[in-house]
Amino acid sequence: MAASAETVLPEPHKVVKDDDWTIVLPRRKNQKRRLPKLKSAKQQQEQTHWTPTDLETTPERELKLMQKMQICIEKLEKSRFFTVFLDQIVTSEAADCFYNITKSERKINMVIYGIGSIESFDSPRLQLSLAVLMKRKLDWIGEIEVFDPIISLTESKVFEELNCRVLSVNEQGMRKVVDPILFFMPHCEVELYDNLLKTNWRYDSLNKIILFGNSFEKYEQHQSVFQGSLLNESTKRLVAVRPFTKEFSTVSDDYFRAFHGSSWHFFSVDRDTNLQLLC
Ligand SMILES: C[S@@+](CC[C@H](N)C(=O)[O-])C[C@H]1O[C@@H](n2cnc3c(N)ncnc32)[C@H](O)[C@@H]1O
Repeated sequence: MAASAETVLPEPHKVVKDDDWTIVLPRRKNQKRRLPKLKSAKQQQEQTHWTPTDLETTPERELKLMQKMQICIEKLEKSRFFTVFLDQIVTSEAADCFYNITKSERKINMVIYGIGSIESFDSPRLQLSLAVLMKRKLDWIGEIEVFDPIISLTESKVFEELNCRVLSVNEQGMRKVVDPILFFMPHCEVELYDNLLKTNWRYDSLNKIILFGNSFEKYEQHQSVFQGSLLNESTKRLVAVRPFTKEFSTVSDDYFRAFHGSSWHFFSVDRDTNLQLLC
């Protein structure tokens, strides 16, 4: 896992060393169940069939989690954060970028990667609430698909109840973009953003992506600190695409933990640009 800059370390996580690379795992003390160990960057290139690792569930546990989610959604909807967030999509400079991508489509699907455990932590619950509210408020958002290898069966059922389809394949962030699409990837590891860009490293694919995730600008700012490291290798593509990226940061005062360091990213790459030369 990637992140090392202060901006990309979500609060409830800690950094640990795993062989030759650094990963960020949830803090033990808040954990309600043991989360599986993440794979190394090399292992992360294979797309594999996936089923939840934690198969223990009961209707009571699902109901409790669903109620928690409903409270969280209601709270977020009434927050100043959400008003500002929605305003940014609908009326600010970013609105033009959203419009450019959404104007020709009836609906744009959303793919959520790396949401984390909605049963164990506030931040994933708030992030999912934001995605659900976006779908409720913005008529151009279509189907929502979600994936995180640590999702439990209970969480999986609650996702489905909230109309988010849980993927049965670990795509490793390598979704091939054909139609315009929104990737919602709050506080993901840098390798996941890198995989997404690598898979779609052509002008016409990149230009169809709306990406919510860790600020690429902040990765660029911190890059020099990690010269020669794996982090530097993984951020190379994010930095290379920066000249073609419009980025709008999220103001997250009242929900700092869940959304700090997050931005909207839009790519505008000219057909003649030789992307292969850039990294
Ligand atoms: C740093 S955590 C962020 C969790 C949560 N979004 C937050 O802000 O607290 C990164 C998450 O990415 C997930 N992840 C790792 N590999 C993934 C993959 N191939 N596809 C989707 N998610 C993945 C991890 O399991 C972890 O939950």
